[in-house]
Amino acid sequence: MADNNETIEVEIERILPGGLGLAHAEGRTIFVALAAPGDVVRVAIERIRGKVAFANIVEILKPSPERVEPPCPYFGRCGGCDFQQLNYQAQLKAKEEIIRDCLRRLGGIEAPPAIAMMPSPDPWQYRARAEWQYDEINQRLGYFQRGSRSVCDVAECAVLVTALEQQLEELRGRMRSGALPEHTRDFQAAAGDDGVSLSPGLADAVATREVTRTIAGERYHFNAEAFFQTNLALLPALVESAIGNASGDTAVDLYCGVGLFTLPLARRFARVAAVEANGRATAFARRNLEFARRQTAANDNTQLSVDEGSAVQPARSSLGDVRIVTARVGDWLGESLHLSGKVDFLLLDPPRTGAENRDIAGILALRPREISYVSCDPATLARDLKKLIAAGYNLESVAAFDMFPQTHHVEAVARLTIQK
Ligand SMILES: C[S@@+](CC[C@H](N)C(=O)[O-])C[C@H]1O[C@@H](n2cnc3c(N)ncnc32)[C@H](O)[C@@H]1O
Repeated sequence: MADNNETIEVEIERILPGGLGLAHAEGRTIFVALAAPGDVVRVAIERIRGKVAFANIVEILKPSPERVEPPCPYFGRCGGCDFQQLNYQAQLKAKEEIIRDCLRRLGGIEAPPAIAMMPSPDPWQYRARAEWQYDEINQRLGYFQRGSRSVCDVAECAVLVTALEQQLEELRGRMRSGALPEHTRDFQAAAGDDGVSLSPGLADAVATREVTRTIAGERYHFNAEAFFQTNLALLPALVESAIGNASGDTAVDLYCGVGLFTLPLARRFARVAAVEANGRATAFARRNLEFARRQTAANDNTQLSVDEGSAVQPARSSLGDVRIVTARVGDWLGESLHLSGKVDFLLLDPPRTGAENRDIAGILALRPREISYVSCDPATLARDLKKLIAAGYNLESVAAFDMFPQTHHVEAVARLTIQK
């Protein structure tokens, strides 16, 4: 077996969760970065841990038919993308396999349902949120380099929406003229329909404090400091898949952010509880709800004057009674046992780390009739599904959304039900 820095020849079998290619050689499992299934490559072993080695490609001996020339000049160095070497169909196929692999290995789900994969309408220029690292000493602005905390200086980024690309250029212009604020380590940016929100904000900047975005008829206000999904064009389909035509008396929206799912839930359920730890996000969620109520009332009044004299129809789109709570999900669940057995529909959309143990225990104590789990990490999704299934839930469907083209990341929605 090769020692560190030695090279060996391997064939890539498939792409694993985490995005690395899998190969076997000389009794070891080898994880190869930036590989394509079917590639025959010479790799340099970077790190060995027992029977496992991590390697980088030094020469492509026979390229996979799925391999393409990565168009980005920073690819390989920049830590942002790790799938540009795959054609788009191969990216989608790899992500479906990643989800299936996690469900089987980590979820113990031997026969996962068919996975419907929704491609991104545009596999480039889709990214409407970004975090740019700033290295003040070396005057670099961009993303962390792959596997390091050094900043890769990036003049253009092919996955950013145009408004963020322009924002990056503007920041780089300020960097060149020494006009970026001292001691700033990073910038967060979020694009909406009406501009870009930037944090920290800059004097005389084009960017605004907050932006709005209309999705499936609902208008959301947010800024760079509150979570909002990255690939805006996929959001109507994501909301539809996560909620569909669910309706009833009581719904719960855990990790609600600025209310992406809260508003559509409020149109379908009489009562909704929405929980989120970030106070900035819940402030936006309350405003978004208030805005939706005002819009609905204004539409109803317009309707009244148009339909003058006719019987007044109750507004089908009116919103239920919504409580938006700023709290950690585990804390809120611990105090919500009075809702046990009364929840028709529970949606959870946790960060990549998934739900904490106590969150799952709290959800099981509520025993909602239906669960919709929106996840940006198939590994933690599978881990959490295993617990829900062990407690009696049935996995009805899994849908995938290519929210992050050119990277191995993928969004998934799992729907579960339980017999009462
Ligand atoms: C993936 S985002 C989803 C937000 C929202 N559902 C959306 O789609 O826009 C996860 C959210 O969970 C929040 N969060 C993280 N840990 C939390 C916790 N323990 N309790 C409550 N909220 C949490 C984050 O602030 C973030 O807004």
